[in-house]
Amino acid sequence: MAMVAGVTTRQSPGRSTRRGVLMGAEVVIEGLTKSFGKQAIWRDVSLTLPPGEVSVMLGPSGTGKSVFLKSMIGLLKPDRGSCVINGVDIVTCSEHRLYETRKLFGVLFQDGALFGSMNLYDNVAFPLREHTKKSESEIKRIVLEKLEMTGLAGAEKKLPGEISGGMRKRAGLARALVLDPEIILCDEPDSGLDPVRTAYLSQLLIDLNAQIDATILIVTHNINLARTVPDNIGMLFRKELVMFGPREVLLTSDEPVVEQFLNGRRLGPIGMSEEKDSAQMAREQAQADAGHHDGSTEDVRGVVPQLQPTPGLPERKGVRRRKDRVMKILHTLPPAAQEGIIDSLTPEEQHRYGVDASTLAASGRHHSDFRAGPTDTVELPVIRNSGSIS
Ligand SMILES: Nc1ncnc2c1ncn2[C@@H]1O[C@H](COP(=O)(O)OP(=O)(O)O)[C@@H](O)[C@H]1O
Ligand SMILES: [Mg+2]
Repeated sequence: MAMVAGVTTRQSPGRSTRRGVLMGAEVVIEGLTKSFGKQAIWRDVSLTLPPGEVSVMLGPSGTGKSVFLKSMIGLLKPDRGSCVINGVDIVTCSEHRLYETRKLFGVLFQDGALFGSMNLYDNVAFPLREHTKKSESEIKRIVLEKLEMTGLAGAEKKLPGEISGGMRKRAGLARALVLDPEIILCDEPDSGLDPVRTAYLSQLLIDLNAQIDATILIVTHNINLARTVPDNIGMLFRKELVMFGPREVLLTSDEPVVEQFLNGRRLGPIGMSEEKDSAQMAREQAQADAGHHDGSTEDVRGVVPQLQPTPGLPERKGVRRRKDRVMKILHTLPPAAQEGIIDSLTPEEQHRYGVDASTLAASGRHHSDFRAGPTDTVELPVIRNSGSIS
């Protein structure tokens, strides 16, 4: 498989190492709030992207997901709050620090943001020519490696206008990879792609994570991607972060907004223009009760297996770290999420962590105790010294 060949374990300046192994950076966001003039976009967003894990941010159109990504890299200035990466708060740091910290990020913008008059080679080489003093022969090696990793070997002479949407996304991703990012942000990487291309892209993101262990945040509307790709899921709605936590929590949640979104249903709090009033909700409920079928398929609920790296690639280190992290907070999670997490462990792991199906029965809690209110978030514990966990 072509993508396997491009595995990089090379060290480069600015890439943090722990025990000599490259690892993505942790991103700690606290109380982040953004408005444009009088228009509040979202407030008090707090979440932690654990190092090397893949997270997805869901949310209806216009809830400020793109604004959130741009705020994380300092392209937009939040009103208050902090976003700390490697000890630097990008909200309050100097221009110089911001410029330096931004190099830790690889960003795939919503439209790919390729230069239309440059071929793919020059597009992908651009950040290297802009931000490094590398020689053209070194640049060539890196560009060809990233094009191969993203399945674009041989397409370097093509102009963005000559290739499919899926290829443009992958070229944007190749460009996001050239500076060896610790954090990769993808804004709706699946938009405009057919389901098959989206499945390939999902696989590519997981394979990349296995190869470079970068922290990844994906903004998407794609339910299938959200259910199968990330370790953690969050959701923005009504100007707030409704929830953010391990995938098992969101996938088994009975929070109405989360359930409606993950099922792509009309019935629920989310309406045509984001929110709906109670009269509209009652009308739709009455129609449904009277047998009107709203086109949605059967409810999808529960924890489905997570996408694995392509055979032959290394294991995802984030998955291993996450097990330790999630097992520490297991007792704080709703029973359905606990069950999903315990089920995902091998018998050996269950033994090592000292859990099995009876752990749940013993906890004796009721699901309703854990219903998250609109402002509750499932907090991820901050593991700052993850390198010490085997
Ligand atoms: N630079 C900007 N200036 C003013 N308003 C903006 C700017 N960027 C985005 N917005 C507004 O912020 C809101 C959220 O936008 P966006 O983040 O693009 O939503 P999403 O990505 O979730 O669909 C929208 O109402 C949009 O008009
Ligand atoms: Mg957007």
